[in-house]
Amino acid sequence: MLISFFFVAGLLSFFTPVVSAASTTNGASIYNLPLGSNSNYTFALNIPDDSTDLYFHLSGPTSYSWLAVGTGSEMKDSLMIVAYSNADGKNVTVSPRLSSGEQEPEYSSSLAVTLLDGTGIANNTMTVNGRCSNCTTWKMGSRTGSLDLKSSSQPWIYGLGPTGGSARMLRSDSKTASIERHSKYGVFDMDMVHATGGSGGLPTSYTTAQGSSSEGGDKDDSNWPSIIHALCLGGALILLFPCGAILLRVLPKSVRWHWVNQTISTCLAGIGLVIGFYLSTQFTKSQSCSSTHQILGIVILLAIIAQWGMGFWHHRLYKKTQTSSMFGVVHRYFGFVVILLAIINGGIGLRWSYASNGVLIGYSIAVIIVSVVIIGLLGWARFKTNRGAKGFVRQPQELDEFQTSDLSDGYVDRSAGGSHGYDRY
Ligand code: HEM
Ligand code: HEM
Repeated sequence: MLISFFFVAGLLSFFTPVVSAASTTNGASIYNLPLGSNSNYTFALNIPDDSTDLYFHLSGPTSYSWLAVGTGSEMKDSLMIVAYSNADGKNVTVSPRLSSGEQEPEYSSSLAVTLLDGTGIANNTMTVNGRCSNCTTWKMGSRTGSLDLKSSSQPWIYGLGPTGGSARMLRSDSKTASIERHSKYGVFDMDMVHATGGSGGLPTSYTTAQGSSSEGGDKDDSNWPSIIHALCLGGALILLFPCGAILLRVLPKSVRWHWVNQTISTCLAGIGLVIGFYLSTQFTKSQSCSSTHQILGIVILLAIIAQWGMGFWHHRLYKKTQTSSMFGVVHRYFGFVVILLAIINGGIGLRWSYASNGVLIGYSIAVIIVSVVIIGLLGWARFKTNRGAKGFVRQPQELDEFQTSDLSDGYVDRSAGGSHGYDRY
């Protein structure tokens, strides 16, 4: 009798793994969020009896740059598990993070997550099966966060990283890798009592949701401040500033329009800069304001203010002396240097914020088209002037609006008898 008891017990223990990722006997709560084209975001939980270990499953399509789940009903003070592809695209990097608010959560090495069987990337799905042995209470600076294991409606949040053609997928082995703002987020509740039971282990199937409910606040999101930042600065520096040269040299050859255009562009760039500073608070990579993109950006913005000042000062001096000044010469050539630096900085910004190669190619084509048109028009105007034709010469009907103030600022075409048109300082 005793021998047969030990035989059966031995047989049973042989078939029961010490750390199991799949079990049908344990309690479990499962949350499923349909994401279209037959894919789901799934989060499932098991808490063994008399334990504070969390066995969890997190999965979703690889078309999202990252997947995450977090405790609580908002980002502030949430403990999050963030998952993204590793560097070779075959496995997942799992990064436990703490969030202090509506900004990138920070990796916390104190959170002990052990990865279990089934973790990896297969069939365009990222899966994390894990166990966290100290995820029920955590420290956020001086504050302490906690999970209520007895709650029948414990709130959780989810977040999905950027997706679609404009985003480059994140692939990194680093747990501190920089993630971009979500393209979707929301809140759901989990019945922690339903999730409790057994000796620890995850369900074998996740297709049927149980012990969970959506809070209904699912929201599509984007990194719109970044897009506005790029449009303001790119639009001002790479499109409008060069157009200012056309307004002065080609059409309508007006100092006044040049001045108005460059002033509006400077203001637009200023708005872009302010948004840039706000954006800098959002990501761990930018909070110290020490990256190449930020430093070069600040230098460019200071240069633009100097440009505006030099243009203004040159205009005043010319009115008094009727001769060109150093400010005028520097203003003229330095402007092109600033635009070149801005073009480079725009490219650095796009790389930095994981824009796709398609976006980078589109940006390069747009820059080439604008450059060819602007340089072509300026070259054509200069060619006409050199040949004594009307390139830089003001037409008689334009003189009325211009004569009194503008002709006295350094654009008088002496070759045309000093009465109308431009010379170049
Ligand atoms: C770079 C990383 C992240 C940034 C910059 C970021 C930024 C933000 C911002 C600005 C909002 C407010 C949006 C609005 O008012 O429309 C927000 C809300 C939210 N985010 Fe994030 N987030 C990041 C990562 C995450 C992650 C990893 C999760 C999920 C675990 C998440 C979940 C949420 C949720 C549920 C909300 C709505 C509740 C709330 O306002 O706190 N976020 N996030
Ligand atoms: C010449 C000046 C600048 C230009 C042309 C420029 C342009 C850009 C562009 C094109 C992006 C990518 C946006 C996207 O992919 O959606 C970007 C990102 C960014 N820029 Fe700038 N920028 C300039 C100056 C600055 C300055 C002065 C700061 C802050 C001090 C700044 C902070 C940022 C930040 C934090 C991001 C990253 C956003 C993210 O990761 O989503 N930029 N910038």
